[in-house]
Amino acid sequence: MHSTLVIVGASYAGVQLAAAARETGFEGRIVLIGDEADAPYQRPPLSKGFLTGSFSEARLPLRSQAFFDEEKIEWLPSMRATHIDRGRREVELQDGSRIAYDHLALTTGARVRKLDCPGATLDAVHYLRDLRDARRLAQTASTARRAVVIGGGYIGLEAAASLRQKGIDVTVVETEPRLLARVASPWMSAFMQDAHARNGVAFEFGRKVIELKQTGDAVSVVLDDDTHLSCDLVVVGIGVIPNTELAAECGLTVAGGIVVDECARTSDPAIVAAGDCAAFVPHWAPSDSRACRIESVQNANDMAKVAALAIAGRPQPYRTVPWFWSDQYDLKLQMAGIHSGFTHHALRGAVEERKFSLFYFRNEALIAVDSINRPQEHMLARKLLANGVHLSARDVEDPAFDLKGAVQ
Ligand code: APR
Repeated sequence: MHSTLVIVGASYAGVQLAAAARETGFEGRIVLIGDEADAPYQRPPLSKGFLTGSFSEARLPLRSQAFFDEEKIEWLPSMRATHIDRGRREVELQDGSRIAYDHLALTTGARVRKLDCPGATLDAVHYLRDLRDARRLAQTASTARRAVVIGGGYIGLEAAASLRQKGIDVTVVETEPRLLARVASPWMSAFMQDAHARNGVAFEFGRKVIELKQTGDAVSVVLDDDTHLSCDLVVVGIGVIPNTELAAECGLTVAGGIVVDECARTSDPAIVAAGDCAAFVPHWAPSDSRACRIESVQNANDMAKVAALAIAGRPQPYRTVPWFWSDQYDLKLQMAGIHSGFTHHALRGAVEERKFSLFYFRNEALIAVDSINRPQEHMLARKLLANGVHLSARDVEDPAFDLKGAVQ
């Protein structure tokens, strides 16, 4: 008898895990459970082309229905898994039915962190995580004139760029003293701030929103220094919370995420986890480091492949170099590696032409590269990091230095 793989969560990690399970030769039943009504779709365009109108909804699906049919992946839309019975190896669904599993994959992702102040639920307030959020935001943005964006992370900044491109006035409110403080170096934060300022975005740094007040058609965003920002649209992008409740409730180890080993296995041998919901000690960190989560499409896809191999009984440690991208205005920002703990950086290319890469070193070791409008250099950077190539800051800064040659 063939076994059953149940996957809870039908976004990047869940869909990739189903596909990878088939690629690794899993012949049993695959059930993919998702609580959204829409067929699994790409999320990055939601804050970019989908909002500006250049990326149509028809292009969003991750995979066609034909793919699910051909690969015999049973996708259950609009269905929440409500409980995991590890003893009986069953997942309970919101309609009371149960599905027995031999292998269970948790790819439950993350949900937006909500604003928590008076007025936070006013109609003008929008989040940007799923397609329903994006449809509603695109609708409001079609008539809005002044927006306040709360949060200067990727979601906030991509939304800010898209809204500016639609001619809407934008002010970004950020609690930290700089943009992208969680994910970018101070140098890159300053570069991105300059890009937004040139495009007319205003900023309020180091400020908290204490209240949102509806006054007629307008909303007043009140900051902790008593600044009142009047607008007709509020976009909130203040981070996400991993969906770990199912895992915690059935007794799996959860610490800031569903804890998995380097092969994506949870504390139960029958259960793997991957993507935004999963926490692990990354291969580049000391082995006694705390488990952390990585929120990216790359991580969801690559970890899902690792999880599929674990299910196939051929566990392989997750070793991929992390990478990430963001499009804002005419800037394609691509990041490879993790820059935290860098001791110095070196610039290659021309900042004034907006085509360059910033290479980060920890002592002698290259640890990360951020590229602006240099996609080929980003691809090379991923290989340099994967191969552990030794480069010096002087090499990087020398335009005659053969970076491609260094990869081999
Ligand atoms: N007011 C203003 N700013 C805030 C507040 C607040 N109350 N709370 C947090 N912030 C700021 C943080 O300092 C940070 O700069 O909001 C920003 C949130 O940035 P991220 O944590 O990167 O989250 P977000 O931009 O919402 O993105 C969520 O979607 O596209 C993905 O990679 C992205 O995984 C990330 C996720």
